Amino acid sequence: MPRQLFVTTALPYANAPFHIGHMMEYIQADIWVRFQRMHGSAVHFVCADDAHGAPIMIAAEKAGKTPQQFVADIAAGRKEYLDGFHISFDNWHSTDGAENHQLAQDIYRALKKNGLIDTRTIEQFFDPDKNMFLPDRFIKGECPKCHAKDQYGDNCEVCGAVYSPTELINPYSALSGATPVLRTSEHFFFKLSDPRCLAFLDQWTQSGAVQPEVLNKIAEWIEPGEDGKPKMGDWDISRDAPYFGIEIPDAPGKYFYVWLDAPIGYLASLQNRFAKIEGDAAKGAAAYTAFMADPATEQYHFIGKDIITFHTLFWPAMLHFSGRKTPNAVFVHGFLTINSGEKMSKSRGTGLNPLKYLSLGMNPEWLRYYLATKLTPRNEDIEFSPEDFMARVNSDLIGKYINIASRAAGFISKRFGGKLGAVSPDGAGLLDTLREGQDTIAALYESREFAKALREVMLLADKVNAYVDANKPWELAKKEGMEARLHDVCTVCIEAFRLLTIYLKPVLPALAASVETFLNSGPLSFGKANGGLPAGHAIGEYQHLMQRVDIKQLDALFEAPALAVAAQGATETVATTPPGGEALAPTITIDDFAKVDLRIASIVNCEAVEGSTKLLRLTLDAGEKDDAGQPRMRNVFSGIASAYKPEDLVGKLTVLVANLAPRKMKFGVSEGMVLAASHGDEKANPGIYILNPWPGAQPGMRIH
Ligand code: MSP
Ligand code: ZN
Repeated sequence: MPRQLFVTTALPYANAPFHIGHMMEYIQADIWVRFQRMHGSAVHFVCADDAHGAPIMIAAEKAGKTPQQFVADIAAGRKEYLDGFHISFDNWHSTDGAENHQLAQDIYRALKKNGLIDTRTIEQFFDPDKNMFLPDRFIKGECPKCHAKDQYGDNCEVCGAVYSPTELINPYSALSGATPVLRTSEHFFFKLSDPRCLAFLDQWTQSGAVQPEVLNKIAEWIEPGEDGKPKMGDWDISRDAPYFGIEIPDAPGKYFYVWLDAPIGYLASLQNRFAKIEGDAAKGAAAYTAFMADPATEQYHFIGKDIITFHTLFWPAMLHFSGRKTPNAVFVHGFLTINSGEKMSKSRGTGLNPLKYLSLGMNPEWLRYYLATKLTPRNEDIEFSPEDFMARVNSDLIGKYINIASRAAGFISKRFGGKLGAVSPDGAGLLDTLREGQDTIAALYESREFAKALREVMLLADKVNAYVDANKPWELAKKEGMEARLHDVCTVCIEAFRLLTIYLKPVLPALAASVETFLNSGPLSFGKANGGLPAGHAIGEYQHLMQRVDIKQLDALFEAPALAVAAQGATETVATTPPGGEALAPTITIDDFAKVDLRIASIVNCEAVEGSTKLLRLTLDAGEKDDAGQPRMRNVFSGIASAYKPEDLVGKLTVLVANLAPRKMKFGVSEGMVLAASHGDEKANPGIYILNPWPGAQPGMRIH
């Protein structure tokens, strides 16, 4: 019986384009889905944009768009990534779609009917200018512990303290700058601490639906702690208007918190798919309902480690207590990190931009293959290392696998009219070994042990290469009377290549399609490992199947944006010298720039620093006053002693970074930084030049 699967990946927030972490999740899920399809399973593989919530509403407002338009613009950019990396979603939808509004309200009503919704009055910060309640992220102020300024409402980035927004000193709204006021509001809660919920979650999480390491993490939420009570409390599922979200039925001005309707978006996207299949919304809804009611339907969610509680506690409880099917499993993966072991360097510290990868002509299947060699079914981080990437692709994928075809195909077409020959017992033995691998490899794909599956495939490829090296077709080709053996050996290679291609097809779908054309084999699938292409079968002309990774492509990939163009294409030999000896930093927006507050400052005093040959101590007047109305001076250390005598600077104007966090140095606290120019390669081009504004600028003026 073919299986019937409903598979999702997490719904990305619709406030930014994809990054490489998203692509990793999609590639992992896509490999699994393609494997299932190759086994004849019917799969519905769906995703959607996660459209709602305060951050998106605020970002849309800043961009001068309606939230709907903002989200639609982000959605329009998705296809390029998904097609580019061969992600085979069957449907892409939005949590703002009509289906989701309906489903979220239905689920809420069912939970309410079940006595699992409660209301409670809570006290929260409110922005009187913006007329809205502020999420913690949008409240800033002075850290109550270390007094660092401009810290977020939930934790301090300087000392790491965790607190509630009400503890901040001089809190202000990050949206308007206004001082927030405390206001009460009625909120809706999902009663997860209800004994029924705890009992259900205990059973569901123990049912094999989560990985053991994930179970350990979540057990503390549902198992009784030292005080005999579980940590799991009720869940606040409502937000007050203005909010971009779904309205709560019979509660004017109240919306579902984005995390309530987000996972429901999985169901909405599936229902939307059925509507497309049926060509009609009502028929689609009926088909969807029937599909989800079918006990044979299996439901799986691929997610990252940061959203475990939402998916393994809140989501199954929502489904179960609204009378729905619960997930068969939630597959949690770790995070992809880029070169974290190395110090971030200027040329390689920009991360891995998926579209840039594609625009450099890098093969998407290199990335699919490389990530697959690292992916396990466990919740563990994986690391992208450029050197490792190149080694895996060039030595294994090309060196061990692609080369099998390129070494044999030429002889078949030139010497044997493109036709396969007969196989003698030694070759048949090798092919049997390869065919025997299929069950193991299939089981490894099924259990998401992709790294192990590819290791098995490469071990088999090693055996084929050993056979090639032992038989040396290039020498057989030169010897007289060895025609038949040459035909035999090359035929074995082609059949071996076909088998390895079957095993790699979930990872390398586009390559497998080229191989199917080249071999004239029709679609390859696991079931077709046995048998094989018969003697006399005509294969096509061999076209080069895959290029090697060129180090220059990797250099260009991790270079700062301005330079990537110069190094584009693997043929370019010299990269241009960057201006001033330093590559341009990644593009920022005007908002990013506005975060840096540059002021004209007068150098009131300047002196050498005892014990330092590099530093000068500057006393700066940036037009500021202290609480008593007296001029406030800034003490700033600057590494310019090699270029200026203290007396030359006194009385001059310069530029101060006025909102830089104060820094404690050996010689005292530096309250800002002055701007100076220098070459990227200071050894070859020494010299440091402090900035000096045109006459007329006054201390305190902001530089825009
Ligand atoms: N919108 C929520 C998910 C709602 S699901 C009903 C969200 N969005 S997200 O865009 O921040 O993340 C989407 C997925 O990408 C999550 O599964 C997240 O774990 C994953 N990743 C984000 N960064 C990642 C890496 N660096 N590496 C791998 N996956 C990462 O969370
Ligand atoms: Zn602090």
